[in-house]
Amino acid sequence: MASRTELIVALDVATLDEAAAVVHTLGDAVTWYKIGKQLFTRFGPAAVQTVKAAGKHVFLDLKFHDIPNTVAQAVRSAASLGADITNVHASGGRAMLKAAADAARETGLIVLGVTVLTSMDAAELRAVGITASPEEQVVRLARLAQAAGVPGVVCSALEIAALRQACGPDFLLVVPGIRPAGAAHDDQARVMTPAEAARAGASYIVVGRPILKAPSPAEAARAIRRELNG
Ligand code: C5P
Repeated sequence: MASRTELIVALDVATLDEAAAVVHTLGDAVTWYKIGKQLFTRFGPAAVQTVKAAGKHVFLDLKFHDIPNTVAQAVRSAASLGADITNVHASGGRAMLKAAADAARETGLIVLGVTVLTSMDAAELRAVGITASPEEQVVRLARLAQAAGVPGVVCSALEIAALRQACGPDFLLVVPGIRPAGAAHDDQARVMTPAEAARAGASYIVVGRPILKAPSPAEAARAIRRELNG
């Protein structure tokens, strides 16, 4: 089991100035940031550079899904920007996963798999031709990713136990949908507290609004880290 659960803050803001302000405000309380499609599509490499210039680690959450060669080149590009983690859709298949894992290994970047988007339920899966339940499909895709050399997946808190059992203690599990006790759930339907996610075996938790919208973001981040370590 991963001995410690790390905090990643979701940098879900609209501008580079806001991104820089968040990183500055959080200071030493946070060492990992997730940059997603909102910021990256508009500002590109500058978004990554803004965070790296502050000495922080970047999870570049672009969820690549393409033919193996293209995904491998995209992973190399992410590494050359200085990203520390990136991800690919595991449903892209075995050859694509292996190409991504091989490219990541060459560059020192960690590549994660994305299994089933949490916005998809059984009916949505059936509509795209998948008759397995969401839970079965998540485990199937995580095993496929692991067999291809991908060291972990992004998963919901409710999937941690099944994935720890299926993929073992060293598989990285990066878990969004986290809410400290008493915090607003926003649009997250099924949540766990930081302490619950750590106990369940999360390697990293991803937290956005409970920190970004807190009266004191740095104190909110510190409280979450205390919870993870306690
Ligand atoms: O603000 P909040 O803590 O809900 O942010 C969670 C972050 O994790 C957002 O960037 C969201 O897009 C991302 N995410 C998620 N659920 C998933 C995958 C990613 O909430 N299944």
